[in-house]
Amino acid sequence: MITRLLGKRGAGRKVNAEGKLRHIAFIMDGNGRWAKKRGMPRTYGHAAGAAVFKRIIEYCGKIGIGAVTVYAFSTENWKRPKEEVDAIMKIFRDYLDEAERSFSQKDIQLHFLGSKSVFPEETAKRMTALEKASAGRRLILNIAVNYGGRDEIVHAVNELIREGRTEICEEDITSHLYTKDSPPPDLIVRTGAEKRISNFLLWEAAYAELYFTDVLWPDFDERQVDLCVADFYARKRRFGGI
Ligand code: IPE
Ligand code: IPE
Ligand code: MG
Repeated sequence: MITRLLGKRGAGRKVNAEGKLRHIAFIMDGNGRWAKKRGMPRTYGHAAGAAVFKRIIEYCGKIGIGAVTVYAFSTENWKRPKEEVDAIMKIFRDYLDEAERSFSQKDIQLHFLGSKSVFPEETAKRMTALEKASAGRRLILNIAVNYGGRDEIVHAVNELIREGRTEICEEDITSHLYTKDSPPPDLIVRTGAEKRISNFLLWEAAYAELYFTDVLWPDFDERQVDLCVADFYARKRRFGGI
């Protein structure tokens, strides 16, 4: 039914006309399987996935979503073979190059979620510089890289301890998370058929709507975003009320 309502092509701005979807988050899963299906190395899938990520961000901006979070690399993904990790980090550095070249023309505010301490000092400095240079712009783009939801909560608590706090409330944690500049996610989308959260936005997801699709991330497109958004609009959010 949702498919019929949207017609053949993506419905564009109309899909979020009421602006209820303020923050969408994507678990971009399925790159490896997508490549394998084509008889290609997993790294080929990561390259394809990075291209899709750029398209999807543009589109989310177009339909009036204020904040987009993408799960690019988890604290657990370091377990993967060195060759694959190196290839993903190369894609990430290429993205930093591109952001440095083109972000001055974009209305995007960049945030990296996760500790930067694992990256070479030069990379960490570039990440911080991009965050500073893009501060205050319209669309918030959170890139979760070396991100884990548990790590994020521990990091927040350690900051509070450093501030000398001995007792805290929920708002204290929220305001010390890597995502402190974004509203909580309204919708979390996971591609690639798995139905789990894999350490993503554990605190923030308390009342997020969840959407799982079998589509592998490199096959995800604008039309798939329209389907997620239409599905989100069909939900009744109660937040514990009636
Ligand atoms: C998601 O795709 C990207 C990262 C985790 C870096 P995967 O690499 O997990 O792809 P599958 O799940 O093995 O297909
Ligand atoms: C989650 O995908 C992390 C990212 C998409 C970056 P994984 O492929 O790492 O998750 P699991 O291992 O299937 O739970
Ligand atoms: Mg995976």
